[in-house]
Amino acid sequence: MKNAPPRKGPTVAAKPVAERVKRLVVLVSGSGTNLQALLDEIAAVGPEAYGAEVVAVGADRENIEGLARAERAGLPTFVRKVKDHGSREEWDAALADAVSAHEPDLVISAGFMKIVGKEFLARFGGRFVNTHPALLPSFPGAHGVRDALAYGARVTGCTVHFVDDGVDTGPIIAQGVVEIRDEDDESALHERIKEVERRLLVEVVGRLARNGYRIEGRKVVIQ
Ligand code: GRF
Repeated sequence: MKNAPPRKGPTVAAKPVAERVKRLVVLVSGSGTNLQALLDEIAAVGPEAYGAEVVAVGADRENIEGLARAERAGLPTFVRKVKDHGSREEWDAALADAVSAHEPDLVISAGFMKIVGKEFLARFGGRFVNTHPALLPSFPGAHGVRDALAYGARVTGCTVHFVDDGVDTGPIIAQGVVEIRDEDDESALHERIKEVERRLLVEVVGRLARNGYRIEGRKVVIQ
């Protein structure tokens, strides 16, 4: 009798599965499309396969679409406004307390337009991820898209990075490139950047959560 050919089993996805589903707190200030991209991906593949779930969404202002998206998803939300606190330091500590109450593994700044302070970084440094709409270290700050356009750069993009005590200076995790077109204005360019940015953020946060990582100086090594 001839030997039967080796049986082909079902193809098993090589995606590593996190030992534990990681807890994400996402901070927003605006429309929250990056938050939505995370929520959609987690809903599509499931928290176990993605490696993380969003446990709460925080903001520095009320009445924003980012918070409405969180509420529609049934997530707890919190708002800490600078002007409700005696000083910037008090606000920073209040924000850190609010985030900490949800025991996050990672905190994601997804269009959160505030610079956090010492207390927040002491508690969440090394696990606080930001997404910026330019190719850092070029064009840091609040107007990364406008500044790249005004400079006459031919390419720009987005950077997902860990937050340190500078403005958009922390270790870079991943970047995506977007060409600048002659006819671009700030809003058209920002929309194209955000398409790349949402995919990059979803991909990077999932990899950090599933695989683990270490930060060696300026290098981020995802295991
Ligand atoms: C993103 O481009 C982010 O990098 C920038 O603001 C935008 C936020 O977009 N800081 P959204 O609120 O996630 O739609």
